[in-house]
Amino acid sequence: MRRKMIAGNWKMYKTVTEALALVQGLKTKLIDIDDVDMVVAPPFTSLAMVYQAIQSSNIMLSAQDLYYEKEGAYTGEISGGMLKDIGCQFVIVGHSERRSLFGETDEIVNKKIHAALNAGLSAIFCLGESLEEREAGMTFDVVNRQVRAGLAGCGEKEMKNIVMAYEPIWAIGTGKTATPAQANEAHAYIRHLLSGIISGQGAEQALILYGGSVKPSNAAELMNQPDIDGALVGGASLTVESFSEIILSSRG
Ligand code: PGA
Repeated sequence: MRRKMIAGNWKMYKTVTEALALVQGLKTKLIDIDDVDMVVAPPFTSLAMVYQAIQSSNIMLSAQDLYYEKEGAYTGEISGGMLKDIGCQFVIVGHSERRSLFGETDEIVNKKIHAALNAGLSAIFCLGESLEEREAGMTFDVVNRQVRAGLAGCGEKEMKNIVMAYEPIWAIGTGKTATPAQANEAHAYIRHLLSGIISGQGAEQALILYGGSVKPSNAAELMNQPDIDGALVGGASLTVESFSEIILSSRG
């Protein structure tokens, strides 16, 4: 039985003060939860303070991105080692907003996954098709390409520190959610792909999160699907009420 994970991607929202208020609220509300892995991904500017606030709590810290070099003259960039140093356990890699707005290719995503693992972080590896690709019947081709390219050079050992996140682009921030059946179909396909890439129990044990307009009203139904192991939540992770409701409804 795989443990559920619910991660909140705060994107470019929340000042430090707002971030601390949110995380304090979550800490109080979720104090008794020990059967779901809970992760928050604030903007870089709040990571260190949020880390202090979640000390000795059941909430874990993720960054939203990293650069793949260890250090150097890369103005504006942040390395995996720097994120590890301030208490991050996870980092989101390959989010569709990074891919579409900031030109991240599969090759860059792959480098970032390796950089995250080399720094001792776990990667939350995002992928998913656009509306045009789905309508053209290319969903599986796109997912296949993204999974293989993103995981190039990764085997059973690496997969222990990689969480997959299937996020159909047409469902992100649009209010349109994939139906539980559509999402589960993609997740089952990803698990099938993983079984060809990693040996042993790796594919069976891998966590595959769903992302794209997850909210309190649809979370339970999505989380009940056999191949959906949790959620990467954007908009609905920005308030204590909606994020904790999603976590509570993921417990089954
Ligand atoms: P959303 O975002 O929940 O606001 O659709 C999900 C994501 O981008 O990870």
